[in-house]
Amino acid sequence: MSHPSFQVIRDEHQALAAMLSSISMLLSEHRRKGVPPPFAVLRAMLFYIDEYPERLHHRKETELLFPAIRHRTDQAAEALDKLDRDHARGEQAIRDLEHALTAYEMMGDSRAQDFATAVDRYLEFYRAHMRLEEDVIMPLALEVLQEEDWKQLDAAFAENRDPLTGHKPEAEYEKLFSFIVNHAPAPIGLGAPL
Ligand SMILES: [Fe+2]
Ligand SMILES: [Fe+2]
Repeated sequence: MSHPSFQVIRDEHQALAAMLSSISMLLSEHRRKGVPPPFAVLRAMLFYIDEYPERLHHRKETELLFPAIRHRTDQAAEALDKLDRDHARGEQAIRDLEHALTAYEMMGDSRAQDFATAVDRYLEFYRAHMRLEEDVIMPLALEVLQEEDWKQLDAAFAENRDPLTGHKPEAEYEKLFSFIVNHAPAPIGLGAPL
């Protein structure tokens, strides 16, 4: 049986992974050319991560998906606790990344490496996080959740409508997304110079 929320979670993982790789590629491309990266584009990409994955995706996993699983089984309790801790750290992690970007922009090259390292660390952190969810938690959810659980999850995740998973952006996000799509490199955008 297919559950719409299951697909939403997978699509949102792909969108976050693509956004993170795109940030990393943007940095290495500019480092190779020896020119500063387009800071406004990087700021917009980090802002997206804060507005969508951090505020909607991870929050709904912690508030709805994980409690539903815990209610049905005590399997994978440690993994769920670890993922909750990751979610709790996530908001601070994105703030730290934004701060490292500002430092790079304001202070110049002396802070370039700090930002690149922070991006790589964040990327690794979320890749491992999403792998654990996909390899351990989602198969367990399929096994133990009941139809009534899925109904609630499907309704909640359907509201996310992340534009990077194929939804038309809500009016207030239109400008942000067209800016990202025009200027971020593949796999997110068209990579047009500013
Ligand atoms: Fe998560
Ligand atoms: Fe997730």
